[in-house]
Amino acid sequence: MSEQAFPHLFQPLKLRHKTLKHRLNFGAHTANMSVEGLPSERHLGYYRERARGGAAMIVIEPAPVHKAAVLTRGNFLAESDAVIPHFRRITDACHEHGTVMIHQMYHVGAHGDWDNSFDAAWSPSGLPSMHDSDGSHRMSEAQIAELVECFGQAARRDKEAGFDGSEIMAAYNALLEQFWSPYSNRRTDRYGGSFENRMRFSTEVLTRMRQLAGEDFILGMAISVDITRPDVLSVADQQEILAWHDARGLYDYVSCGTGSYFDFTKIIPPFVYEDKLGPPFAEALKQVAKHVRVQAESHIRTPENADYVIASGQADMVSIVRGQIADPHMANKAREGRAGDIRPCISCNQMCWGRRSRDYWISCLVNPSAGREFEWGGDTFAPAKKGKRLLVVGGGPAGLEAARVAAERGHQVTLAEASDKLGGQFRLAGMQPRRAQILDLLQWYEGQLEKLQVRVMLNTPMDAAEIQAFGADEVVIATGSSPAGTGFQRGMGEVESLPGVEGPNVYSVEEVMRREVRPGKRVLVLDDVGNWRGLGTAWQLADKGHEVTIVTPDAHLGRELVRTGADIPLRARLAKLGVKTITESVITNWHGDGATIRDLLSGSEQRLDFDTLVLATVNRADTEIADELRDSGSPFAAIGDCLAPRHAPAAIYEGRKLGLGL
Ligand SMILES: Cc1cc2nc3c(=O)[nH]c(=O)nc-3n(C[C@H](O)[C@H](O)[C@H](O)COP(=O)(O)O)c2cc1C
Ligand code: SF4
Repeated sequence: MSEQAFPHLFQPLKLRHKTLKHRLNFGAHTANMSVEGLPSERHLGYYRERARGGAAMIVIEPAPVHKAAVLTRGNFLAESDAVIPHFRRITDACHEHGTVMIHQMYHVGAHGDWDNSFDAAWSPSGLPSMHDSDGSHRMSEAQIAELVECFGQAARRDKEAGFDGSEIMAAYNALLEQFWSPYSNRRTDRYGGSFENRMRFSTEVLTRMRQLAGEDFILGMAISVDITRPDVLSVADQQEILAWHDARGLYDYVSCGTGSYFDFTKIIPPFVYEDKLGPPFAEALKQVAKHVRVQAESHIRTPENADYVIASGQADMVSIVRGQIADPHMANKAREGRAGDIRPCISCNQMCWGRRSRDYWISCLVNPSAGREFEWGGDTFAPAKKGKRLLVVGGGPAGLEAARVAAERGHQVTLAEASDKLGGQFRLAGMQPRRAQILDLLQWYEGQLEKLQVRVMLNTPMDAAEIQAFGADEVVIATGSSPAGTGFQRGMGEVESLPGVEGPNVYSVEEVMRREVRPGKRVLVLDDVGNWRGLGTAWQLADKGHEVTIVTPDAHLGRELVRTGADIPLRARLAKLGVKTITESVITNWHGDGATIRDLLSGSEQRLDFDTLVLATVNRADTEIADELRDSGSPFAAIGDCLAPRHAPAAIYEGRKLGLGL
């Protein structure tokens, strides 16, 4: 039994008046799914699925406690009892699975978003936000009292909505932390100055919450540590603050994340960061905690890591957010000895934070049902009404997902792949530096297909006649895309093909990653896409000692990665490796031993010497087989890049959707 596999993680834990069935929780994150500020069907489906999947405690996404605290379009209504019956449906549904239900609340103080709150951001001392260009409003004592009451009322609302507790987000330099920190709290009244004065606001807030929510109610505090910034509270500061609140019995647990509004990228660490980023800080807090429980967060990722955190005494409980977005049944699978069946999160941030950062509701690259549970169902698929023989042509992410879902629903599936490996371009991406989590995902697919008895035929290119002769009931074409090879650039749309691209020493990213070619010492990467294809390859080449220069039409490298938070550490890494960047530019000519590069702003041109040109441009759809089938009148469905070359999320989404619809 798995309880022996993860013996420390799967121990119950007393938390105030409740006992968690084990220590693996689904921590707070803004799912951004409200409709007109009310918890939606999307929320209900999303959280119920994670409760069904075994999470011991779920922290529902934060409500802004006050009108000036509204931060996203999908936020819950602030200061309104209208949310109560809608939350009650969620807490009731999740309680049926024995899950302890907590609700986060926040006020991010100086870092508010005027476009969503339409109110000045309130803060202790009226300092500028470090997050954007806005200044903030210094709160009066009357406004402090108003906010204390707002926090109290939010807790009362949570209690009436059936929550077992509330959690305040002080983390990432939100309002409570702004009061705690001498860097952001410059007040000279009784809320600023001495340590005791700086603790007054949170003390009053928690006291009022307890008064209104009662004794049988858990109070938690989310905090974070960012050791990279001298103007953020240190670990020692956070220890002192925890000890103060603990000694006064003001809250029951603290959850410790990483990063801050000043260094956003570590809040939701992408794969460039190591595993278990948060636990060392949780451990430091646990050393001073006498009564409060300490939860570790941030890139814990797997039950193995979580068990280690508990076993080594770093924390009392663990939050895994993205891991359970990716696989809502992580807890049950780990508990039942099926850890190998857990669909791994690849720490890409593309569809979770990547959508939240653009103010959409969140989903997941590897689990497109996330956020769609209410219409697509959960992670256990309904059996097909009638079993069919299905042929999937192409074993990239679209084909893999279609084959897996169809087989799980009872169809008899054959997957034909032209090359000797499954994974397509996704496998090449997994070979870039620090991206091996993609290879783990492909291994998971291979394991699942084997269990589901999908017949996988490698080295099997198929033409239309062979597909027709196969005689499947349904045919899925997922043949992907290939490098266009034209050097077409967005910044120079009038030129169809880069002059000189047919000449020597020009390679595609794919050829480089497959090691089919040997780039010279001085490599010019044309990055027309602003994502990992070009930049991960540049990193790989620089790591191997090549002198790399990147040309991009964008104002900075990694334009498409900004939404994931991975662009900053990537640029830092490339800078350390000595990679040179030429921004807002295009290549007008490749000469075989160098390039003419045009600055898009000034129009000036320069000729520079290089040994090799690597093209990271938009691919061309491989439509040959689909076209043949269409011409011969054979029915089929096309998914993924062969429909239009895009990112992996589109491929897996289309594979899942097709598999569910068969
Ligand atoms: C889309 C998204 C939104 C988040 N929003 C919040 C939030 O509103 N409050 C909060 O305390 N943490 C938030 N987080 C941070 C998570 O609680 C967690 O610390 C982070 O995802 C790292 O943990 P993980 O590696 O287990 O995902 C968010 C995370 C994600 C992925
Ligand atoms: S989108 Fe990527 S990082 Fe986010 S949960 Fe899914 S796999 Fe993980």
